[in-house]
Amino acid sequence: MKEGVSQTLILQLIVFLLLSLHDSQCIPLRSTVCPAILEIKHDALTPDISPSVDPQPFLPLLAPSPLMPFTNNYGVPKLSGLCPLNFSAAESMLNTTAIDCWASFAPYLANVACCPQFDATLVILIGQSSLYSQKLALNVTHARHCLSDVEQILTSRGANENLHKICSVNPENLTEASCPVIDVHEIDSIVNSSRLLAACGRIDPVSECCNQFCQNAISDAARNISLKNYVSSSLDGALISPEHLVMIDDCKSIVLRWLASKLDPLSANGVLRGLSSCKINKECPLVFPDMRNISKECGNVISNPTACCNAMESYVSQLQNQSFITNLQALNCAALLGMKLQKANVSSNVYNLCHINLKDFSLQVGSQESGCLWPSLPSDATYDATSGISFICDLNDNVAAPWPSTSFVPTSSCNITTKIPALPKATSAESGLYQKELTLSLVFASLLVLKLFL
Ligand SMILES: *[C@@H]1O[C@H](CO)[C@@H](O)[C@H](O)[C@H]1NC(C)=O
Ligand SMILES: *[C@@H]1O[C@H](CO)[C@@H](O)[C@H](O)[C@H]1NC(C)=O
Ligand SMILES: *[C@@H]1O[C@H](CO)[C@@H](O)[C@H](O)[C@H]1NC(C)=O
Ligand SMILES: *[C@@H]1O[C@H](CO)[C@@H](O)[C@H](O)[C@H]1NC(C)=O
Ligand SMILES: *[C@@H]1O[C@H](CO)[C@@H](O)[C@H](O)[C@H]1NC(C)=O
Ligand SMILES: *[C@@H]1O[C@H](CO)[C@@H](O)[C@H](O)[C@H]1NC(C)=O
Ligand SMILES: *[C@@H]1O[C@H](CO)[C@@H](O)[C@H](O)[C@H]1NC(C)=O
Ligand SMILES: *[C@@H]1O[C@H](CO)[C@@H](O)[C@H](O)[C@H]1NC(C)=O
Ligand SMILES: *[C@@H]1O[C@H](CO)[C@@H](O)[C@H](O)[C@H]1NC(C)=O
Ligand SMILES: *[C@@H]1O[C@H](CO)[C@@H](O)[C@H](O)[C@H]1NC(C)=O
Repeated sequence: MKEGVSQTLILQLIVFLLLSLHDSQCIPLRSTVCPAILEIKHDALTPDISPSVDPQPFLPLLAPSPLMPFTNNYGVPKLSGLCPLNFSAAESMLNTTAIDCWASFAPYLANVACCPQFDATLVILIGQSSLYSQKLALNVTHARHCLSDVEQILTSRGANENLHKICSVNPENLTEASCPVIDVHEIDSIVNSSRLLAACGRIDPVSECCNQFCQNAISDAARNISLKNYVSSSLDGALISPEHLVMIDDCKSIVLRWLASKLDPLSANGVLRGLSSCKINKECPLVFPDMRNISKECGNVISNPTACCNAMESYVSQLQNQSFITNLQALNCAALLGMKLQKANVSSNVYNLCHINLKDFSLQVGSQESGCLWPSLPSDATYDATSGISFICDLNDNVAAPWPSTSFVPTSSCNITTKIPALPKATSAESGLYQKELTLSLVFASLLVLKLFL
């Protein structure tokens, strides 16, 4: 793209946004102005029409093209010169991280892409540097400089400048913490390398999350390493003390770095992202606010379904501005909220009553008021000069939220086929009562993004 053209476009957008930022009407969805600048491409976005074909929809997200991470100058990173890591060893991971953690989108992408990719990059950087240093950890001084340098590099490529906060990474995370062994040769002599590499050299994220082959091998290796010089203070050797558990955990990080030193960076990245997807898909990252309003309107016997659904609707809209979640996380969130509601005396299936879908738990995207659930498999945001930042939404998700029948059991990908019901044809036709009221938060997010560049 010609530079003159993109600059004009930037100016137009800035003027437009300055106007809209002053217009507080703009933040809620139903403003007439805002959604117009935030277009979603419709190529494959037809989930409501043909839920039976297997949809592979791509939902290019609203980032206007002037915000080019790689062609715009975001400044030259100010490096400390005191970090021993070799950044070129993880060059392409750094680029991927910069997009996954892009500017003010980072908090919304934190749990589905940004932080897992940021963590993986740090592990690979240390693993690769051990090829020269023979050490699988940095000392505290180096760790501080390195974390800051990595953030500098990422910010210079468009990433949010606060990644350590967003992803709760501190310099200690790059050190040995309490693990007693960090020397590569020593670890080679303690662990069964061929066993570890056989289990973790390549993983299939779907089966790994079920059978945990690699995760078990990592725990096993970490336990073996942690036992070096370890004298159990407990008389009963079978009991593991809390300190020892922490130590094993810290040694797991060392084992991951060891793995990243034995694999090429790209393969290591795949393994690390696969492992973190197993972990995140077992959780619901949303924060549930107080639910007294629902329990008042929907508790015990529901006398006024409209009031009950209004309360549900306003409650769910508070979940919808938190972050993107994966489809499996949405199942977990639905189960968790259902459980909490049942504890608050809401005994009837209010999901059914109020037509709550799984995607209603997700951040809402675009003027379609459509939820965007991320795939459960590791997935990245991508950048291209014409459409900006894009990512895949799993739109095969016009699925009614299942009302939990017993206690909360985290869903894993092992059970996915049994837990996600077949898409009911009626759902899309009847989505009215609830879905029309969803609010759009990404308008707000993109306004923030653009504001950053003013
Ligand atoms: C840094 O890594 C790159 C790519 O892996 C390699 O070619 C280069 O030799 C390394 N530089 C140093 C100083 O280790
Ligand atoms: C990473 O991005 C930089 C510019 O930010 C670019 O020069 C470099 O070629 C990219 N590297 C890879 C491996 O994509
Ligand atoms: C960290 O390592 C460097 C180089 O080996 C050394 O100069 C520095 O004193 C160490 N810092 C600490 C706190 O151990
Ligand atoms: C970093 O360490 C803190 C504890 O100091 C821990 O809570 C956090 O989860 C760690 N972060 C990562 C990414 O491992
Ligand atoms: C851990 O130690 C046990 C007992 O020595 C050994 O059988 C096992 O293979 C080791 N595990 C790994 C991953 O090295
Ligand atoms: C390492 O593990 C492999 C496969 O589990 C096993 O065949 C081999 O005997 C082990 N090697 C050692 C030294 O324990
Ligand atoms: C409960 O409803 C009241 C009145 O509609 C509202 O002001 C309040 O913010 C709601 N509380 C929560 C936690 O949603
Ligand atoms: C998101 O929801 C919370 C809780 O209701 C609210 O306080 C906050 O203002 C909302 N943020 C946005 C950007 O809409
Ligand atoms: C649920 O109902 C019981 C009996 O009606 C009542 O004692 C209890 O306080 C209610 N709990 C909540 C959270 O409303
Ligand atoms: C899968 O589902 C079955 C029954 O529905 C349950 O017993 C089992 O614990 C689930 N497995 C996982 C890993 O969640």
